Amino acid sequence: MRAALVRHRGGPEVISIREIPEPELRPGTVRVAVACAALNFPDLLIMAGTYQATVTLPYVPGCEFSGRVLDVASDVTGIGVGDVVCGLGTHGALADRIVIDAHRVTVVPPDGVDPRSLAAFSVTYTTAYHALRTFGAAEPGEWVAVLGAAGGVGLATVDIARALGARPIAIARGTDRLAACATAGAVATVDYSTEDLKSRLKQITGGGVDVVVDPVGGASAEQSLRAMRWGGRYVVVGFASGEIPRIPLNLVLLKGVRMVGFENRTIMEHLPEVAPAHRREIFDRYLRGEVRPRVGSVHSLEDVREGLQRLAARDVVGKVVIDVNTPVLDTPRRAGR
Ligand SMILES: NC(=O)c1ccc[n+]([C@@H]2O[C@H](COP(=O)([O-])OP(=O)(O)OC[C@H]3O[C@@H](n4cnc5c(N)ncnc54)[C@H](OP(=O)(O)O)[C@@H]3O)[C@@H](O)[C@H]2O)c1
Repeated sequence: MRAALVRHRGGPEVISIREIPEPELRPGTVRVAVACAALNFPDLLIMAGTYQATVTLPYVPGCEFSGRVLDVASDVTGIGVGDVVCGLGTHGALADRIVIDAHRVTVVPPDGVDPRSLAAFSVTYTTAYHALRTFGAAEPGEWVAVLGAAGGVGLATVDIARALGARPIAIARGTDRLAACATAGAVATVDYSTEDLKSRLKQITGGGVDVVVDPVGGASAEQSLRAMRWGGRYVVVGFASGEIPRIPLNLVLLKGVRMVGFENRTIMEHLPEVAPAHRREIFDRYLRGEVRPRVGSVHSLEDVREGLQRLAARDVVGKVVIDVNTPVLDTPRRAGR
């Protein structure tokens, strides 16, 4: 099968397209024909060897995908050959086939599924929903400041905050990127590269920001914290800026702000009852069409390097999708379970 292969640590240049043997079905797994895979910032970190969890070389990158089930291990229930699924793992999605633990895939209704948006949904929308609902406890009408708003997690956060009836404020760089955030539902925008972030947030909200969702870190973190109202919630999601901020804790004391962080990767083990229920909620909203990932650019598997380079260059609004073999989802078919 065709696969993107990483054999050395580094940037997008280390990836190459190869013919490799198909992975074998193991107990507890399913084999899926990949329609589309979507790229995420952590793919770059894993390739560079700077992610919290390492993946042993050589490996096939790509942690989320849409596709159709080809094979099911005999001990797996609830998934059948022919089912349309999306999946969320750590690697392996940038290939014609992936073998993955059955609990990491979700069966979706076969009709009317857009393979690109389905591939682009799992990582950013579950992360954003946990940030807003599980940890941020965002309520209708509340001001939600979203850092990195034109990126994958950020745009999902804007979209979900809108769907929850909150008031998202998009913080990003550049007129076009902020316009896309407004289209996704941001009620106000701040260009942090030209405007004073703290005073603009105070001006927009009047009484201060209720919830900050921060996948970026760096200097914007303290500025956003200073613009919060008493009793707000600050949710730490990631450090796309590469800079882990050091926060003066007197601000937390004075403002009565709750600061909390989480990893989507480990949330199921820490919150085994709440996390799956919230994950289901956001999935249902997606299937009802209430939220929808924005696909910013699409590349073939052969052009995956370009897709990764665009992600690294902050050149895309929303998600970068790799069209591996979309026709596998063209003719919906179910063959029992
Ligand atoms: N906690 C979790 O479970 C979890 C899950 C998924 C992702 N994450 C983390 O969340 C972060 C964002 O992921 P993502 O997939 O949304 O990434 P993304 O699509 O690349 O978006 C990141 C955004 O951050 C902004 N940014 C500011 N400074 C940057 C810099 N020096 N380099 C790159 N971007 C910069 C960019 O917007 P502007 O150019 O407009 O500033 C960019 O759009 C990453 O750190 C990722 O590891 C965490």
